Amino acid sequence: MVQELLLGVNIDHSATIRQARYRTESATVGGNIEPDPVAVAQLAERSGADAITLHLREDRRHIQDEDVRRLRVCKTTRMNLEMACTEEMVAFAKEILPECVLLVPEGRTEVTTEGGLDVAGQMDRVVSTVEELQGLGIEVSLFIDPDEEQIRASADARATMVELHTGPFAHAHSRSAIEDEVIRLVSTANLGNDLGLLVNAGHGINYHNILSLLRVPHLHELNIGHSIISRAVFVGMGEAVREMKQIMLRYRR
Ligand code: PXP
Repeated sequence: MVQELLLGVNIDHSATIRQARYRTESATVGGNIEPDPVAVAQLAERSGADAITLHLREDRRHIQDEDVRRLRVCKTTRMNLEMACTEEMVAFAKEILPECVLLVPEGRTEVTTEGGLDVAGQMDRVVSTVEELQGLGIEVSLFIDPDEEQIRASADARATMVELHTGPFAHAHSRSAIEDEVIRLVSTANLGNDLGLLVNAGHGINYHNILSLLRVPHLHELNIGHSIISRAVFVGMGEAVREMKQIMLRYRR
C-alpha cells in the first residue's frame, strides 16, 4: 500500500511578522494585531496540512505561550511542539500535552535552528526527557543531522521518530553538493528505517528543492514553514498549502 507523505506546516514565520510590529503589546491577538498565527494554522489545516508545527523558543521571538494554548483548543490536526530540551519547556509541554514534541537545540543568537540536536553527546538528558514525555502519551521526535552516529543514538534513546535536518541540503547550490547531501539523507533515512524509526525531514524545504528531496526513501512527514508563508503572500495561505501538498503527492516510498 502506498502511504501518503504528510505535511506539517510550520507557522513560526507568521508570528515573526506579527512580532515585527506588535512585540511590545501585552496581547497577542485582537484589535489591530495581525496576523494571528492560530488563524494561519486553521487555514493550513483546512487546506490539507496534516499537522501544525510551532516552535516556542526560549527568547519568545515569534511564537508566544498564548499562541500554543489557543491552538491547542481549536486545532483539528496534530500539534507538533518544537522546543528545547530544558526543564522549563518540559513543564510547558506537560501543561499543553501536544500530540508530538520535536526536540531541537537552541542557541540564543541563531536566527533559526542551525544544527541538529547532539543526541549522542547528551544521551542522559535526552533519554530522561524522552521517557518523561512519552510517559505522558506524547510522541517524541528528535531533530538531528543526517549522521549515522546521531540516528543510532536516537534509536538508543527510544525516540519513535527523527526529523532529518535538511538545512545543508537546502543551502547546497552546485549540482554535486546537492547530490552529496541527497546521498547523506538517503543513507540515514535507510538506516533510520532499519532501526525502526519514523523518518521526517525539515528546514529550508521549498517548492523547488523538494523535487530532489522526494528521492529520499522512507519519508513519513515534511515540516515546512518559510517557503509556504512566503508563497502565501502571493497566493494566500490555502493555495500555498495546496500547491505544496500537490507536489508531495508525487512521492513514492
Ligand atoms: N524543522 C525544524 C526543526 C525547524 O526549526 C524549522 C524552522 O526553522 C523547520 C523544520 C521549518 O523550516 P523552514 O521554515 O525553513 O521551512
